[in-house]
Amino acid sequence: MEIVSPNKVCLLCLLLPLAFLCSLFSAELCNPRDQKVLLKIKNRFHPAGLDFLDWNPTTNPSCCNWSGIKCDANDRVTFLSIPLQSTLNTSHEIPPAIGDLPLLEHLSIDANLTGPIPQAIARLTNLLHLDLSYNRLTGPVPDFLGRLERLTYLALRINALSGPIPSTLGQLTNLTYLDLSLNMLTGPIPDSLGQLNQLVQLDLSTNRLSGHIPPSLSHLTRVTWFDLESNMLTGPIPPTFGSLKSPEMLLLLSRNRLTGPIPRSLGEANIKVLTLSMNHLTGDASFLFGREKTALEAIYLNDNHFKFNFSNVDFPQALKFLDISHNEIYGSLPKRLGQLQLQFFNVSYNHLCGMIPKSPVFTQLTPYEFAHNKCLCGSPLPPCK
Ligand SMILES: *[C@@H]1O[C@H](CO)[C@@H](O)[C@H](O)[C@H]1NC(C)=O
Ligand SMILES: *[C@@H]1O[C@H](CO)[C@@H](O)[C@H](O)[C@H]1NC(C)=O
Ligand SMILES: *[C@@H]1O[C@H](CO)[C@@H](O)[C@H](O)[C@H]1NC(C)=O
Ligand SMILES: *[C@@H]1O[C@H](CO)[C@@H](O)[C@H](O)[C@H]1NC(C)=O
Ligand SMILES: *[C@@H]1O[C@H](CO)[C@@H](O)[C@H](O)[C@H]1NC(C)=O
Ligand SMILES: *[C@@H]1O[C@H](CO)[C@@H](O)[C@H](O)[C@H]1NC(C)=O
Repeated sequence: MEIVSPNKVCLLCLLLPLAFLCSLFSAELCNPRDQKVLLKIKNRFHPAGLDFLDWNPTTNPSCCNWSGIKCDANDRVTFLSIPLQSTLNTSHEIPPAIGDLPLLEHLSIDANLTGPIPQAIARLTNLLHLDLSYNRLTGPVPDFLGRLERLTYLALRINALSGPIPSTLGQLTNLTYLDLSLNMLTGPIPDSLGQLNQLVQLDLSTNRLSGHIPPSLSHLTRVTWFDLESNMLTGPIPPTFGSLKSPEMLLLLSRNRLTGPIPRSLGEANIKVLTLSMNHLTGDASFLFGREKTALEAIYLNDNHFKFNFSNVDFPQALKFLDISHNEIYGSLPKRLGQLQLQFFNVSYNHLCGMIPKSPVFTQLTPYEFAHNKCLCGSPLPPCK
């Protein structure tokens, strides 16, 4: 059977006097150069069992109609998504041919690919959205990504990328989403990331990043998801972090090696979830609480060296998750705790004393959530004397 190539159909178009028919045809076709590139990509994967069901010019002549592909009004490929169900079970790299789709704006590949992020991606200067998450990519986060200056979305989550975060990423000032989490990145967080003032989500968690948290990150005033958890970051929480005022922010800093007191300014941030667990933080944390912190739902201060009087701390009604275990917190448990709809509560391993407030929530807890304090008493611990 003869394959009707797009070139021939277009030739036919020119010969036909019915111009409107021509435009109808062309709307269903795709640019022949783009189609050639897509077939190259398909052939690269095909023997490995990757199913490009309908990437077939014979049965489906418009490549703009192939699954995972979208085109612009001129039938140029602008969108390429190699779909979830195409996960490869053998080792395959990102095909360099991808760099030959010059108008590509959206590229997402989630197919268990290996090898480095190829230089070919540097040619995709129209990219707005680059998502190579959930592969097994190795090598560095390349410098050249910083030249894809139209990017608004960059996700490399869950790969095996190593080396430092290139400071060139600070040039991507239109980024709203940056996710490099769950890799093996080392070195410091570049100061330049503080220039990404459109960011809404920053996730660098679960890497091996070291050094201090750059104070420049306090310029990221739109970030609502700020996650540096599970790294090897040292030094203090920058004193200027109180300027992170976007409503209902998640500030996630647990499992690092942060030291010093919590900066006072953080009491002014509009936080919904705060995790500071498993660091070496010291001093007072009482100013993080208060009835006026209406957004606050979860606060994890456990496994630090916080030392303050808990007796007069007040709590917002929305608070549901509270873990202050393994600190040096003293005083008593405020009665107000008994009025909250807590879903998680742990005050064990502190220096607290006095009667546990009566609450239907507390009677469902085990003694372990109150254990190892100075002299707490009452249900679920033994009665007060
Ligand atoms: C890989 O996938 C292909 C196609 O789905 C299949 O035929 C082949 O047996 C698989 N190989 C292994 C090692 O699982
Ligand atoms: C697109 O492909 C589907 C099947 O994959 C087919 O039913 C449909 O007619 C095609 N549309 C165009 C415009 O080619
Ligand atoms: C990814 O590829 C590796 C081998 O290259 C294979 O062992 C693994 O099962 C694959 N994962 C999935 C989800 O297919
Ligand atoms: C950044 O976004 C603005 C507003 O959407 C746009 O005007 C500008 O062209 C973008 N910059 C780049 C380099 O794409
Ligand atoms: C903690 O504060 C309460 C109320 O202000 C006070 O009565 C108590 O003595 C303080 N506890 C300690 C150990 O300072
Ligand atoms: C509370 O913390 C203690 C000490 O870390 C731990 O043993 C206990 O399991 C925790 N309780 C819950 C419900 O996590």
